[in-house]
Amino acid sequence: MADFVGAVDQGTTSTRFIIFDHGGNEVARHQLEHEQILPQAGWVEHNPIEIWERTVAVVRTAMQKANLSARDLAAVGVTNQRETAVVWDRRTGRPYYNAIVWQDTRTDRIASALDRDGRGDVIRRKAGLPPATYFSGGKIQWILENVDGVREAAERGDALFGNTDSWLLWNMTGGTKGGNHVTDVTNASRTMLMNLETLDWDDELLSFFNIPRQMLPQIRPSSDPSGYGTAHVDGPLGGDVPLTGDLGDQQAATVGQVCFAPGEAKNTYGTGNFMLLNTGTNLVRSENGLLTTVCYKFGDAAPVYALEGSIAVTGSAVQWLRDQLKLIKSAEQSESLAATVADSGGVYFVPAFSGLFAPYWRSDARGAIVGLSRFNTDAHIARATLESICYQTRDVVDAMAQDSGVTLDVLKVDGGITANNLCMQIQADVLGVPVSRPVVAETTALGAAYAAGLAVGYWKSTDELRDNWNESQRWQPNWSGEQREQGYGRWKKAVQRTLDWVD
Ligand code: G3P
Repeated sequence: MADFVGAVDQGTTSTRFIIFDHGGNEVARHQLEHEQILPQAGWVEHNPIEIWERTVAVVRTAMQKANLSARDLAAVGVTNQRETAVVWDRRTGRPYYNAIVWQDTRTDRIASALDRDGRGDVIRRKAGLPPATYFSGGKIQWILENVDGVREAAERGDALFGNTDSWLLWNMTGGTKGGNHVTDVTNASRTMLMNLETLDWDDELLSFFNIPRQMLPQIRPSSDPSGYGTAHVDGPLGGDVPLTGDLGDQQAATVGQVCFAPGEAKNTYGTGNFMLLNTGTNLVRSENGLLTTVCYKFGDAAPVYALEGSIAVTGSAVQWLRDQLKLIKSAEQSESLAATVADSGGVYFVPAFSGLFAPYWRSDARGAIVGLSRFNTDAHIARATLESICYQTRDVVDAMAQDSGVTLDVLKVDGGITANNLCMQIQADVLGVPVSRPVVAETTALGAAYAAGLAVGYWKSTDELRDNWNESQRWQPNWSGEQREQGYGRWKKAVQRTLDWVD
């Protein structure tokens, strides 16, 4: 058996390839950003060709850095930004349109129409999701209705849909030379098109969006010894490495954080925040604004489900301070600037740039900064931005406790903003529970590597993976109960100010 396992992590802002050893330690990595295309308010697109080119480059460079060749890899997994929709031509390999990104709100009319006539309730019951702009189904419908020739091509079987996992897997397995059109259960569970019980595309759901079934990928387990095929020799790996893992990035992080038992949860801080609670083989339906989603399916074993609290804007609020307001020069500076003041000086920032996701699901919300007085400075805005990340997490943690009865003893965290000590301290203060970060912060790529490695016997069991998890840092809550509840009460008032904004 080869010594290493690799994982492609195709995220919202960048793509990385990371090579891991048997202990789950990072051996080498390379990462490249891609352009965020913002054609008009509420629209967010990526260029799929650029994403594929970046993938090729990061794989090749990481392999060179580690001085490895294809035969050193036992398997490769793929993980990806979920819900982002790509539709391409199987004959030419060219996308018909840019990828429509999960944050894009152009399909708000499609989503609200679904809720007006009862179809929304069918989607909730079958797919576990509220009709929202977030998921892939409406984005596919938009492309079919707005891009010339795509519907005819889809009916002929020439137009293929995928989230970015499918796009990369198709290209990695040969593309126009016979690439495999595949996805996994976790990615499929983010489309509003898959039935959570049968784990197959559902004809009634497809009819709501008028999507021809033949444009959809085959749905496979997240860890699968043969379903994804092998990397094509002409691809970036330059040899026939087995591709045996595929999960949406948040589910991958749940695996990377070894949340394998019901009641275990993780919170990932990326562009947005995504908290997943493993509910075991039970499909728990949320009554408090959470999603029911597939957590993972390893081979022939029964699928494991999760409750998810998705928050659209957290890390991207810090990027907004940097790129749009130019208040800070780097994301790291949000910490030093916010640390110059003891609190947010009464300011609350609700970054509802894509409406509000969990637990509100209000696409009519728009961002607001409230509580301003002349006393306030850029430092208060920076601190309110970090607090907004933590208060949005509190909204989701409360909903999870109500839905599942599970109260957290500790919050396991990962992702970019967990390097911001002040933010993690505020998180512990706002929640009133300790916050714990593992040594390997790249839990998303690690989870995809775990899924791929389990399929080929590189790792024998999930118990073996548990032994790889070690804590690097823990933050203890300092606020009094009174301080905590007063702050949260004001946050809820601020959220109310953002609703009903779009006509
Ligand atoms: O659901 C969207 C999520 O998968 C995106 O994650 O880490 O790319 O912001 P990230």
